[in-house]
Amino acid sequence: LDRIASIGQIIEDRLTIHEYAAQRLKDFPSSDAAYHNYAETVELLKAMAAGNPDEASLFSIGRTVEGREIWCLRLNSGEKGEKPSSKPGALFIGNHHAREHLTNEVSLGLAAHLLNNKNTPEIRKYLDTLDIYIIPMLNADGAEYDIATGSYRWHRKNMRVNADRSIGVDLNRNYDSLWCEAGASHSPGSDTYCGPAPFSEPETQTIKRFIEDRKNLRTLMSYHSYAGLLLYPWAGKDTPLENEKDRAVFEKMAKGMTAFTGYKPEQSSDLYVATGDTTDWAYGNSGIFAFTTELEGKSFYPGAAAIDKAVTNNVKAAVYMLSVTDDPYKLVN
Ligand code: ARG
Ligand code: ZN
Repeated sequence: LDRIASIGQIIEDRLTIHEYAAQRLKDFPSSDAAYHNYAETVELLKAMAAGNPDEASLFSIGRTVEGREIWCLRLNSGEKGEKPSSKPGALFIGNHHAREHLTNEVSLGLAAHLLNNKNTPEIRKYLDTLDIYIIPMLNADGAEYDIATGSYRWHRKNMRVNADRSIGVDLNRNYDSLWCEAGASHSPGSDTYCGPAPFSEPETQTIKRFIEDRKNLRTLMSYHSYAGLLLYPWAGKDTPLENEKDRAVFEKMAKGMTAFTGYKPEQSSDLYVATGDTTDWAYGNSGIFAFTTELEGKSFYPGAAAIDKAVTNNVKAAVYMLSVTDDPYKLVN
């Protein structure tokens, strides 16, 4: 172990083989067993895809820094897997941040809702006319690390071993939009460490490639927790969007969605200015109407009882987002 440490690797824990075997079984605390760990998330996604072969397909969009597959469930009654589509696209992403486990549940709950209601006229219309992608657990490594000891570790970042041997890059500071200016840190140990370069992390590279490869994407929701807010660009500067028409669309969409969640709609920078986030990059580079939801709650660990309501209301907001994905500009025309 000392020699391993001397070549720059991190010794996270020292355990006997028996302790290791016991720890590998560690999971969410039993009172939070309703939350899905990585294996359970993958199993559920596979079951949803297998049970709905005409509407759903599942594929890996890349690997995390520790090598876990990043899974994406696609809902589209036409194209499957990585086949391009010209239908308007919507992208939902959960778990940029490890400890924000409720965001994985909302993403999975959305997928389940759309498939369970696939024969209702409204949902059928979206499955037939849109190209819907759900990536519930982007930071799978961090989410697993957060629960690995059986009690929460309050981990936020990914599992990159930094040059100073601290752990993690903040994935929501690693996008190339005013990278590492305000609200982000060059210090590897910081919880808002932006990484050594924009898109230095495999997780953000994967999202970059995913979005750049799909010019049909029009809307995006990145789930975080917790604050009870719905945020839209800019995040990295506190001036309003220069494009007034786009600003009006963002504001109308935010109003439409928060009618279901009760969250407060505002420009991201009103919460605090932070550069390098998903939504500024997706809007700035690709013109996607990209939002951050900060789910409700008083903690990163709101308990199993919080899941149902968060899912129910955020599913309604997500369905509203789908209802305008064909042409968000119809809201202001
Ligand atoms: N809590 C999120 C984060 O820190 C907020 C992201 C939205 N951006 C912002 N500037 N408020 O990553
Ligand atoms: Zn977050």
